[in-house]
Amino acid sequence: MRKNFGKQTWFYPMPVLIVGTYDENGVPNAMNAAWGGIYDFNQIMLSLSEEHKTTKNIKAKGAFTVSFADAAHVVEADYVGIVSGNDVPNKLEKAGFHTEKSEFVDAPIIKELPMTLECKLVKFNEDGIVIGEIVNVSADESIIGEDGLISPEKLNPIAYDGVHKTYLKLGEKVGNAFSDGKKIK
Ligand SMILES: Cc1cc2nc3c(=O)[nH]c(=O)nc-3n(C[C@H](O)[C@H](O)[C@H](O)COP(=O)(O)O)c2cc1C
Repeated sequence: MRKNFGKQTWFYPMPVLIVGTYDENGVPNAMNAAWGGIYDFNQIMLSLSEEHKTTKNIKAKGAFTVSFADAAHVVEADYVGIVSGNDVPNKLEKAGFHTEKSEFVDAPIIKELPMTLECKLVKFNEDGIVIGEIVNVSADESIIGEDGLISPEKLNPIAYDGVHKTYLKLGEKVGNAFSDGKKIK
């Protein structure tokens, strides 16, 4: 037996993306976005409401960063998702986040979040979806594994559970992509 839930915006896993931007005066801001993901090679998409400070900032600067919220910063990540920079100009400071400018785009990197996609705005498509080109991925050395790459265990990213409105830790490795399926090929 399967239970039907009808029309729902439910999806597993959903990310917890922290979108960093500067306004026209160079004031940094950040917001939480679960509706986003890969759009194409080196490109990501975000579904952002028109009224967000973040949306205005992306239009003003043509750039943004996307960091992955981690288990160590659940409270801060949620805070930037429930308060607007339109109302609280020092929102990032209140969140306890510190920033430095990306070397690659006119957008802030949040120092406390160890993995960041630095993106140039490609376009707002006809539905207002933001498309960005990833021009650099940067990671703090604290999350680099022995293979020289980002270690998901060290990054400890969280996922948004839209069914229960909670945040979840990502689990452990269960297989090898493009490979395990060969067993039944
Ligand atoms: C878990 C979570 C996910 C969210 N996902 C989105 C999203 O995908 N798109 C969006 O427009 N707003 C989303 N929001 C709401 C914004 O983060 C929120 O309105 C924020 O205050 C906007 O900040 P700003 O005005 O400073 O840019 C989300 C909030 C939370 C808590």
